[in-house]
Formats: sequence, C-alpha cells, structure tokens
Amino acid sequence: MDKVLLEKQGNIAILTLNNPKTLNALNGEFMSQIDKAIDEVNEDPNIYVLIITGTKKAFIAGADIKEMLPLTAAQTLEWGKIGSDLNTKIENLRIPVIAGLNGFALGGGCELAMACDIRIASEKAKFGQPECGLGITPGAGGTQRLPRIVGVGKAKELLYTGKIINAKEAFEIGLVNKVVDHEDLLDECLKMAEEIGANAQIAVQQIKRSVNMGVETDIETGLAYELQAFSVCNATEDKKIGMEAFLNKSKEKKFIY
Ligand code: HXC
Repeated sequence: MDKVLLEKQGNIAILTLNNPKTLNALNGEFMSQIDKAIDEVNEDPNIYVLIITGTKKAFIAGADIKEMLPLTAAQTLEWGKIGSDLNTKIENLRIPVIAGLNGFALGGGCELAMACDIRIASEKAKFGQPECGLGITPGAGGTQRLPRIVGVGKAKELLYTGKIINAKEAFEIGLVNKVVDHEDLLDECLKMAEEIGANAQIAVQQIKRSVNMGVETDIETGLAYELQAFSVCNATEDKKIGMEAFLNKSKEKKFIY
C-alpha cells in the first residue's frame, strides 16, 4: 500500500496521505516520502496548484509519538528540523498549496496545514496543538504560524490548553478558509485550484512570494517587494493576453503560463 499517493489532474497535483493505521502520524520515513513527492510537484512546470489531503479520519494526527519517545535532545533537534524544513518547503513552494482537511489535523498535522496557503476543512475535521499534554512544545511551526494566522491571544489559548477544536470553531477563528460537507471536500479543493489555475501563473506565483515575504517585514519593504512583482508581471506575455482580452471584451483568455 502506497502511503503517499501523487496524482495529477491537468495542472493540479493531488498529494494524498494514506497511512490510516497510524492516522498519518509523521515518522521520519513518511516525512521523507512526502518531501520527495513535493519535490516532484515542484519540478513539474505544468503543475499550477498542489492539494494535500488525507484518507479516512485523519489528515495527520501529529508527529509519531512512538518514534519521538526515545529521542535524546540532540536527536530531537535533528528530527524536528526535518518536520520544520518540510513545512517551510511547503510554505515557500513556487505554487499555491491547498490543504484539504478531511479529519484530525493535530500537532505536526495542524502545523503542516498552516504551512499551506489555503485551508479547506471537511465538517469532520478537528484541529489542535496538544503537544504540551505530551510534555513537549510544537516543533514544526506551531508557536510561530498559529499566532500569525489566528492572533496571539487565541493561539496561546490553543497552545496552552492543547484543546481540540472542530471545523466550525476553526473557521470562526480564521484557522481555515471554509468548511464544506465531508463528501464535497476534494471537489471544493479542485474547484478552488481550478479558479487559481485559470489565472496567469507568473502573477499568482509572484503574489504568493510578495505576500509571504511582505508579512514578515515592515510595510515599506513589503511594498517594494510588491512593486518588483508588479514590474516582473508587466514584462510577461500573459499581461498582454489578460489586458487585451479585457479591452476587446473577450471572455476567451488563453494564458501561456
Ligand atoms: C503515533 C498515533 C498517533 C501519533 C494516532 N496514532 N496518533 N501513533 N503518533 N501522533 C495511532 C494510535 O496509537 C492507534 O494505534 C491508531 O493510530 C489509531 O488511533 P486511536 O487513538 O485508536 O484513534 P481514536 O480513538 O479515533 O483517536 C484519534 C486521536 C488520537 C484523537 C487523533 O489518536 C490521538 O490523540 N492521537 C495523538 C494526537 C497527538 O497528540 N498529536 C500530537 C503529537 S506531537 P494502535 O496501534 O493503538 O491502533 C507532535 C509534535 C510535532 O505532533 C513535532 C513536529 C516536528
């Protein structure tokens, strides 16, 4: 049984995590397989959007507790860096990444989801950072991305209590973009991916870069990034195609990329 399934539908890649026996708990080998699949997506210029989802009742129930228990502090540093670097790779991926949250997204699972650009949750999804109940802290971005997404106060509440929240609560605090019927999850992700894929991709990718770099700096520097992205796009053939289609009142727009 393949634990990491990579499927391509036109310009969209779907990465499905499929180790239901452990609820997709992240061990070293599983993380390395995910990492390789993401590299494969990144190297394919025909892929415009990546969807990451899970099977059965879990997106990812966290890092593998069995594998973590015997680790020394030095080993934990190395091990944690693998998870942290994987999430950074997802966050900085050239193309937008949509998390299709089908079930438990806990600990490292919530952290991986937060590294994605957009989160769409099934009504059955559950979220939390339960690490402090295990005697540890989050190690792959939980203390950093959660406050950036939901604000410091709400993040601290979730991080200190370790409580698990449902999809509706996650939507209310801004942790997920929307909540959909469980059976519609993949279709909803594909619908959004297609909407993104219909636009000019150099522009989409420049926007991702500009937002990611801008939110980590002061507004003046962020605006300078944006201006650079703006001028890069103005040199593309797709700008001509998009603007001429508007001026000619044409609905047909065939972007090159
Ligand atoms: C290892 C796990 C696991 C995990 C579930 N399993 N989560 N194994 N690590 N994180 C295993 C269970 O041991 C069990 O194996 C099987 O998956 C099914 O799980 P159940 O507990 O029987 O399912 P259920 O009763 O439905 O409960 C679901 C659950 C619970 C609420 C998600 O499994 C749970 O609380 N899991 C741990 C969640 C957690 O604490 N995550 C944070 C980990 S720390 P068997 O062999 O008994 O069938 C972390 C740090 C990140 O993520 C650091 C990143 C670098």
